[in-house]
Amino acid sequence: MKNDATIDIDIKRAPSSKIDSIDFENLKFGHTFTDHMMTCDYEDGAWQSPKIVPYGPISLEPSAKVFHYGQAVFEGMKAFKDDSDKIWLFRPDENFKRINKSANRLAIPEFPEEHFFNALEALLKLEKDWIKKGFGNSLYIRPFVIATEPGVLASPGTTYKFMIICSPAKSYYNGEVRVKFSEKYSRAADGGVGFAKAAGNYGAQFYPTNLAKEEGYQQIIWTDANTHQFLEEAGTMNIFFRIGDTLITSPTNDRILDGITRKSLMTLAKEFNITVEERRVPVQEIINASKAGTLKEIFGTGTAAVINPISGFGYQGEKHELPKLSDSYASFFKDKLMKIQYNLAEDKFGWRHLVS
Ligand code: COI
Repeated sequence: MKNDATIDIDIKRAPSSKIDSIDFENLKFGHTFTDHMMTCDYEDGAWQSPKIVPYGPISLEPSAKVFHYGQAVFEGMKAFKDDSDKIWLFRPDENFKRINKSANRLAIPEFPEEHFFNALEALLKLEKDWIKKGFGNSLYIRPFVIATEPGVLASPGTTYKFMIICSPAKSYYNGEVRVKFSEKYSRAADGGVGFAKAAGNYGAQFYPTNLAKEEGYQQIIWTDANTHQFLEEAGTMNIFFRIGDTLITSPTNDRILDGITRKSLMTLAKEFNITVEERRVPVQEIINASKAGTLKEIFGTGTAAVINPISGFGYQGEKHELPKLSDSYASFFKDKLMKIQYNLAEDKFGWRHLVS
């Protein structure tokens, strides 16, 4: 990760902090934002100098392309504070690479590495008091890029804004998560943008997810668009199935997000000799395993949710419950991963990055 101090970052401090009014024990995910944000404009064919300014509304013309053609990508990252007040990021290089991969697919100009890391670190230092100590507390970081050029001609913008906003967080999901296996709607198709963190990938899920909610599910497990016979990804997470003692997850491809938590779990699984089969996951195999009692777990992985167990699922009108395990892989890997993130365990793979 590059950290080149030659990039100037203009910092305009907020006149006062709202931190004292925040109830950090009762945070609703993604609702509270810190005092400052990073903003950087793309103009005249180049990214200009990043700025840190007080968090607040931005002004865009109603014809800005992001509103009409959805030219927008984002990332999700987290910062953690250890017991000696050091601040850590988890595999930030991966987020940086992925936002540019997503940007490329949406015809958005790539953001420079120095700008990203220098601005992010400057912002985190300014917001250090918003990162609370303690297992489970984090600062959720949302970098995003939008096309700001006014005009409704359907073509890529020539001006953009790259911004980073930060939100103190505890857990993403509260309570049990039940999922519905999709039988009709699709999240992504071959040759599409499923692998990218394109804003539209998430917006397009809201309607089918609302329908699933009416039936008592919190999320959908998306099946492949062609046959709906293979399980691919959950709405905000990658997905793992445990049959017996083996984990199965769909391989990444142009329909599936290359999740950082997903690949970290797979690396940890190798270390602990837990088999992960990366292959297509037929719906029927999971139904059969559920009926035979060999389906032990389903869990999702993602930055916001970390590792989230699924308590049951529905398919073709039938409800399936998953057993409650005292030795679940979901809790095992969540604990291992979080201990690395919070500097409570050895970082064998060099995943932790100190903000200094
Ligand atoms: C994340 O896990 O960081 C994501 O980007 C998912 C988001 C929809 C909360």
